[in-house]
Amino acid sequence: MSPNMPRIDISPSQETIPPVEPCTLVIFGGSGDLARRRLIPALYNLLLDGLLPPNYAVIGLGRKSMTTEEFRITVRDGVVTHSRQALVEDRWKDFSSHLFYVSGENENPHTYTRLKSRAEEIERDLQLTGNRIFYLSIPPSSVASVCEGLDQAGLATKLGNRIPYARIIIEKPVGRDLPSAQAINHVTGRVFDESQIFRIDHYLGKETVQNLMVLRFANSIFEPIWNHKYIDHVQITVSETEGVGTRAGYYEEAGALRDMVQNHMLQLLCLVATEPPYSLDPDVVRNAKMEVLRCLRPITDRDVEHVTVRAQYSEGTTHGHSIPGYRREKGIHPDSTTETYVALKCFVENWRWAGVPFYLRTGKALPHRASEIAVQFKDIPQILFNTNAQQPQPPNVLALRIQPEEGLSLRLVSRVPGTREQTRPVEMDFQYSDVFGRPSPEAYERLLLDVMAGDASRFMRRDAVEASWAWITKILEGWQRQGLRSLPEYPAGTCGPVEADRLIEKDGRTWRTL
Ligand code: BG6
Repeated sequence: MSPNMPRIDISPSQETIPPVEPCTLVIFGGSGDLARRRLIPALYNLLLDGLLPPNYAVIGLGRKSMTTEEFRITVRDGVVTHSRQALVEDRWKDFSSHLFYVSGENENPHTYTRLKSRAEEIERDLQLTGNRIFYLSIPPSSVASVCEGLDQAGLATKLGNRIPYARIIIEKPVGRDLPSAQAINHVTGRVFDESQIFRIDHYLGKETVQNLMVLRFANSIFEPIWNHKYIDHVQITVSETEGVGTRAGYYEEAGALRDMVQNHMLQLLCLVATEPPYSLDPDVVRNAKMEVLRCLRPITDRDVEHVTVRAQYSEGTTHGHSIPGYRREKGIHPDSTTETYVALKCFVENWRWAGVPFYLRTGKALPHRASEIAVQFKDIPQILFNTNAQQPQPPNVLALRIQPEEGLSLRLVSRVPGTREQTRPVEMDFQYSDVFGRPSPEAYERLLLDVMAGDASRFMRRDAVEASWAWITKILEGWQRQGLRSLPEYPAGTCGPVEADRLIEKDGRTWRTL
């Protein structure tokens, strides 16, 4: 909060660590990007921090034909490039001896018989007890085949939290609209019990996101003013600098609304807007968040035109890299109408939030990587220090920075020291890494550990996934009715389309500068 705030050094081993039993983690999509960039580095960091169970195995399963040795080399590169902590040779050697690879098609029943016998063999060698976690980092269209395959091979025992357990992690997006999400939930629900299913949204594992509830409910100053009487509006922004990169196949089918808003951004909105849950029991918290989704005013018919904006990046430069226009990216259809940017205004229709707009915006190929939630309080009356109508005092803003530099800041108005009567906005700033002496763990580290411990608090429940898809599907239908043949454009490296500025400016407000 201030440069004088004492630094609090916390080592990972001082944390309260949930009990974690030895287990085998099977990653479907094991040769893919997520495994290489995020999952294996997360596991490696858990090992370095002493948080992995004493005994474990990781089996990558993928279409690509590869030996275990090749798999270890590939993921080692991922760790070198993406790990939070540097690669330490002897620790890596130990870790990599627990990594294995099985190749196979998700749709082929033999994959599952082979997986089963390989898993049993590894578990015998490493003396593991048979607890298994299946991580589905695969397209939504393959989820049903994998569940059926696991079921038929006898790998999907409905043992929930009993030992040995079987648990399944489903990576987002769960579906691409409400009917497909329902179909996935149906098949996973037939094969596994809800207590065994962990629908992951990695934003829920981010430090600032976890801190939102603490901030709101462990400090007495916020709750009394956290409502329509004091809050003017809320802005939620997730801005990314990269373009579509190597994910054209997936992104072209998804677009920013499905990729970011349906999950990450609506979850952030729920945490900002939720009523205080009466306990921290996972289901009580999830019920409270679910209420927010129920209160979201549907965006239908003409509203789609008035309160949503979608756009695509055109050719430009970010951070010295030139990016081709979206329609010219490799693997993208030259007439694509997939949005790489979306901005929208929505309302939570309950007593607390009556009339308070929530503005959401997210996009690729923007100038900064920054995600934040900004709560803007109402203007002060035009008296005392605010009598100049031409230059009103800027309102207080509480900005929660999700990344980078996780922390929060509060904008206040202060007197400028001196003999003249001058005021200026100042920021009170708090950064986790300054105060707590070590960088926050990556979201996937926390979430993988949660699954091993069987703690579902930070995962999406079936009803929440379907409620958010129901809301998003109405917007998608509205867009489809609009039938646009091309979308507004913004040059890569700029702050988004002018249409997004107009969306907020017509309400007499502006987007925050990131
Ligand atoms: C993923 C999206 O869920 O989140 C990606 O599919 C996006 O398109 C990513 O880039 C952003 O995550 P983070 O943690 O980098 O903000």
